[in-house]
Amino acid sequence: MSQIPIKTDEEIEQMRIACRLAADVLDHIAPHIQAGVSTDHINSLCHDYIIEHDAIPAPLNYTPPGHQPYPKSVCTSLNHQVCHGIPSDARFLKDGDILNIDVTVIKNGWHGDTCRMFSVGQLSRKAEHLCSAAQKCLWLGIGAVRQGAHLGDIGHAIQKYAQSQGYSIVRDFCGHGLGRKFHEPPQILHYGNLGEGATLKKNMVFTIEPMINAGRAAVKVLSDGWTVVTRDRCLSAQWEHTVRVTEDGYEVLTLSAAELKQMATQENRR
Ligand code: MF3
Ligand code: CO
Ligand code: CO
Repeated sequence: MSQIPIKTDEEIEQMRIACRLAADVLDHIAPHIQAGVSTDHINSLCHDYIIEHDAIPAPLNYTPPGHQPYPKSVCTSLNHQVCHGIPSDARFLKDGDILNIDVTVIKNGWHGDTCRMFSVGQLSRKAEHLCSAAQKCLWLGIGAVRQGAHLGDIGHAIQKYAQSQGYSIVRDFCGHGLGRKFHEPPQILHYGNLGEGATLKKNMVFTIEPMINAGRAAVKVLSDGWTVVTRDRCLSAQWEHTVRVTEDGYEVLTLSAAELKQMATQENRR
């Protein structure tokens, strides 16, 4: 079994910097997500912001085994696209679209990885519900993280809620450890059983990134070699954070200023 790296406090500090930048990219792009904008324009805006902040867009030319190099700087996945959608200057956002933007940066050699759903104009009730349920899945998974917990606890929390809402969970892709590498152990499955899998230790760092489908779980990869879509063409939604294990819980390294503010507002409404 491959070992799960434990980061030193100094390395964690480097990851905080990379992760904060990745989160900032998503805050920066938010006002630009509007009908009529091409996904390639979004890619350019993200690319430029990352470069201006002395970082590298990790997806650009990323070539995992069995893949052709990824041609763009971020992933933009629309509607029934699950993940790894390739930005295109021929694809324009329209009212009612749901769009996932997945940003991974390399800053001083360290990776930060996060994605969010964005809505274009007015969403259908179904699309709205799917996006918020997927976000809730992410946070339920995060809530299961702490030293001594098991990897399966994360997947279990996500699976329980997704199924209660009548949604399915994509099984072909998972969360992952990251650090100097984009993808390293552990694999974070978004389904599972309590108490199963490796035991979490302080300063493990990994992503949780559930892909939740309105229809069936089955996916396929398009002929571009990257874009993953639902086989039944039903909508799919994904949210991702990079998380550090702490003694009594977790630290969300990719929490952005906007998300913090949004969470504070929700807290006040309770
Ligand atoms: N950011 C994605 C993840 O969460 C990976 C994208 S790989 C790419 O793991 F090459 F498509 F960018
Ligand atoms: Co990831
Ligand atoms: Co990602």
